[in-house]
Amino acid sequence: MPIAKPANQVASTITSQHLSDRVLEIQDAFEVSPTKLKQIVAHFVEELKKGLSAKGGNIPMIPVWVMDYPNGTETGDYLAIDLGGTNLRVVLVHLLGGQKFETEQEKYHLPKGMRTTRNRDELFEFIADCLEKFFYKLHPNGIEKGALLPLGFTFSYPASQTRIDTGVLQRWTKGFDIPNVEGEDVVPLLMDKINEKKLPIKVVALINDTAGALVASRYTDPTTEMGLIFGTGVNGAYYDRVGNIEKLKGKLLPDITDDSPMLINCEYGSFDNEHESLPRTKYDILIDEQSPRPGQQAFEKMTAGYYLGELIRLILVELYEEKQVFQKYSKDSEQIKLLYTPYLLDTSFLAEIEGDQDLENFPEVVRLFQEFLKIEPTLDERRLSRALSEIIGNRSARLSVCGIGAACTKMNIKKCHCAADGSVFHKYPKFPERAADSLADIFGWKEENIHPRNYPIQIVPSQDGSGVGAAVIAALAHARQAKGLSLGLAEAYKKA
Ligand code: GLC
Repeated sequence: MPIAKPANQVASTITSQHLSDRVLEIQDAFEVSPTKLKQIVAHFVEELKKGLSAKGGNIPMIPVWVMDYPNGTETGDYLAIDLGGTNLRVVLVHLLGGQKFETEQEKYHLPKGMRTTRNRDELFEFIADCLEKFFYKLHPNGIEKGALLPLGFTFSYPASQTRIDTGVLQRWTKGFDIPNVEGEDVVPLLMDKINEKKLPIKVVALINDTAGALVASRYTDPTTEMGLIFGTGVNGAYYDRVGNIEKLKGKLLPDITDDSPMLINCEYGSFDNEHESLPRTKYDILIDEQSPRPGQQAFEKMTAGYYLGELIRLILVELYEEKQVFQKYSKDSEQIKLLYTPYLLDTSFLAEIEGDQDLENFPEVVRLFQEFLKIEPTLDERRLSRALSEIIGNRSARLSVCGIGAACTKMNIKKCHCAADGSVFHKYPKFPERAADSLADIFGWKEENIHPRNYPIQIVPSQDGSGVGAAVIAALAHARQAKGLSLGLAEAYKKA
């Protein structure tokens, strides 16, 4: 069967022969064939295993000390916060049992420049300020003296956890770059600010967004085996067996046995940092070289929302330099200066270009170019942009699901739901279909003539991971603690 050429339809309507040839070249560079997908998955499985070994590998494979499966009976009131790229969300979750819950929430916009502030206190003070506002909105007169509200802190960066309520940031990802946080436990950094405000709140669990997505969905759907984020970053979580986690051998208290499940935050955005199997284009190489952390997050840089807008921008810059596009704007014009601004275009730019239904005139594309770049695109430039959005979006979806392919292969999971969240999954048209199609290529479902509706591994929208998921994880931790069981490495208990 010939490999689908997603951009052909639009690319073939481009009138300039040279431009249309360039699009096809770019398309070839971004293509990931079924054979290539299978090779990537095979390498990915090995890398997941390496991450669990005593020696370790590129993929951190972080045990997050969730050792139970939720079953929907968990109850209680929990606070949850989620530090995202643009917002801080604060949620009060009432777990009602019977797979039911209610939430009350508030979103606070992250002040401009916060992702890269030079003063780490600003970040933690901001979080504590938001918590304070939320707390007094809910409880204008405070709460019962001596009581403490348990807080699940969704901190979606690679953080090593010796216990469930700690998290030492390994390195920032997704464009965050704040000094003196890498190598530090972020829980005391936040708790200090909470305590300064005398808020009756205590962090009881540090949670990755993928772990939250998995646990929240599993609270209502017991067939969920993975939690996935296709958003600003790309990552996945699944339950492994403690016995498979070689790096924990000899480091646990006797109450954690080899058969115990253990939720793993893979942090597989760093898959293939050694550049062995991913088909990198020159644009991917540029993104990596110009990033604050070259050589890191190789997989994420090719697939995640934070980078997709930058990919199209780099291609458009190249085509401008080749005198193929935007020729009515001179190099020192405002428009071209905007075009040369790194990270000016975000994923919504691409997603909305793909959402344009009018393939004659592309009115949405015109609007987006005016809004972001002040450029009036010609018809050929609109077609080009549409073709490029499809090429970039398609590759992102195809590569992104290699993480699912790898984890399911490793765990021998043949049938399940994978709970997905994130802006790319929700906002990028066709992402879910393309992702399903790519999984079908990986597992050979097309040869078996399985209808997409019946694909055995289905990616479904997750429940609210950073709210409900964080609350359920906090509830599971609480239940374990009440039984006197450990939630971390033996050494973390000796110190405590
Ligand atoms: C980045 C983070 C990871 C997170 C993912 C999705 O890869 O390192 O912790 O899960 O983005 O938000």
